[in-house]
Amino acid sequence: MIKETLLNVSTEISANDRIRIRINGEWGEYEVGRDLKSETTLSTFLRERLGYTGLKISCDEGACGACTVIMDGKAILSCMLLAVEADGHDVLTIEGLPHDDPVIEAFAEQSEPGHGTALQCGYCTPGFVLSTHALLNENPNPTLDEIKEALSGNLCRCGCYSGIVMAVRHASEKIAAKGG
Ligand code: FES
Ligand code: FES
Repeated sequence: MIKETLLNVSTEISANDRIRIRINGEWGEYEVGRDLKSETTLSTFLRERLGYTGLKISCDEGACGACTVIMDGKAILSCMLLAVEADGHDVLTIEGLPHDDPVIEAFAEQSEPGHGTALQCGYCTPGFVLSTHALLNENPNPTLDEIKEALSGNLCRCGCYSGIVMAVRHASEKIAAKGG
């Protein structure tokens, strides 16, 4: 899936304007010029200002998926969106998932020796987990091609792709077992 890569500079936001973003279920209000600049990307705002360090900033140009978050139910590349463009929107980072989240569990279990690991260094993992969430929310039982397509914007430098596909399938099974 090609993620949303909005980068429409809002000319209507200026210093001292306030924006509101719902992050992991809680609304926050931020002042442009004090909490962020109008040109601050959502990835930088989330990581550097708010401390959501699960997302990573690697390429910073929309090519790797490390900065993936979910906005309004869709996986997006947060380095390609200005924070001011998230005004009024609902953002989910990996910190907002519960500890017994089936996708996190599936990736963690797929990291055990002997399973074909889904992660080595783990740098890409939050992005893959959130892309998987967005996929399974729309398509709870994806085919192999659908998984490949959905995760095509996420890169794993450790080359764990086969393990990642197994983790996605496992997560799909877990969600089905819980009744969706
Ligand atoms: S850091 Fe955003 S896509 Fe690479
Ligand atoms: S596990 Fe290292 S980059 Fe994916």
